[in-house]
Amino acid sequence: MKYVQFGDRQVSAIGLGTWQFGSRGWGWGRDLDVEEALRIVRRAVDLGITFFDTAEIYGGGRSEEILGQALRGHREEMFIATKVFPHHLTRGGVVRAAQRSLRRLGTDTIDLYQVHFPNPLIPLSQTMGGMGELVNKGLVRQVGVSNFGLGRWRRAERALGSAVISNQVHYHLLKRKAADMLLPYAREEGRTVIAYSPLAQGVLAGRYGPGEAPGGVRARNVLFTPRNLRRLGPFMEVLRSVAGAHGATPAQIALAWLVHDPQVIAIPGAKSVQQVEENAAAADIALSDLEWARLGDAAQAFRRTPFMSAVPGMIARYLRP
Ligand SMILES: NC(=O)c1ccc[n+]([C@@H]2O[C@H](COP(=O)([O-])OP(=O)(O)OC[C@H]3O[C@@H](n4cnc5c(N)ncnc54)[C@H](OP(=O)(O)O)[C@@H]3O)[C@@H](O)[C@H]2O)c1
Repeated sequence: MKYVQFGDRQVSAIGLGTWQFGSRGWGWGRDLDVEEALRIVRRAVDLGITFFDTAEIYGGGRSEEILGQALRGHREEMFIATKVFPHHLTRGGVVRAAQRSLRRLGTDTIDLYQVHFPNPLIPLSQTMGGMGELVNKGLVRQVGVSNFGLGRWRRAERALGSAVISNQVHYHLLKRKAADMLLPYAREEGRTVIAYSPLAQGVLAGRYGPGEAPGGVRARNVLFTPRNLRRLGPFMEVLRSVAGAHGATPAQIALAWLVHDPQVIAIPGAKSVQQVEENAAAADIALSDLEWARLGDAAQAFRRTPFMSAVPGMIARYLRP
């Protein structure tokens, strides 16, 4: 496992996302249950993963509970990141939400407390006032944001009066704009960009073809439409060819591409022990600069269909039982 600097701590470059735990939209109760979720987290710990991402909203709090249970006995070496939802962003709201998360996680400190999405109706001074209070009380170690543009990230830092150490954004080979805007700042100031949905929710694993796309939360993912899956063919060929050269899988190469940059950590979700094993091993794949650029160029050449043309198919998949 490769480790990178994260504020004043070192964390694994590949973490584990846990939106899947407790979420019916990810097949909870059908593809995944509590026992498997506990096995996934414990295997992650064995493999050297130390960064775990959850949120108060995932599974209505179930994800935090399961993560807390799985990490009991390992708490000190592990790094727990959770998030406060945008309707709890007043000063008092942030503090109360954190106290509830601490109870569900069964811990006395959150290593990274992130604002899940901005809420333009609540001033950042309120939110960061609550964050500052939590840090002063020792209930939160570091503060982060998620889905923030660069300007808002910097305003959050000014409101907090210290570093907002990370910004968690939608970032993978086929979606790079947000991170491209944030990475120069992260490099300059020693901040981290946390890549969420780093496998494009499974698209980059190459398991799904036209007509085989999953429903649930992924019905909203425009990349899963049959036309986009077909258009992805040439890019997937390049991804598979780089994977072949490393004796790796496409998913592993997609993750290795992200963590090629020490300012980035990736937090793939997993629905099986085998997936977490595969994802953890990706941290040790060193892509050459040439391979990195080749993948980027192939991704750049992909043009997805206009969003509106995909909507009817997405609704049909969403309604599918
Ligand atoms: N801050 C935010 O707003 C935000 C938003 C989204 C996610 N997140 C965080 O980011 C984490 C990851 O994002 P995500 O879960 O949306 O998407 P993801 O990590 O890109 O994809 C996860 C899914 O891909 C499949 N998969 C994982 N590893 C695989 C492997 N090695 N081979 C083949 N398939 C594999 C699994 O689904 P199947 O096996 O069913 O295909 C898994 O559920 C979340 O768990 C959450 O913690 C944050």
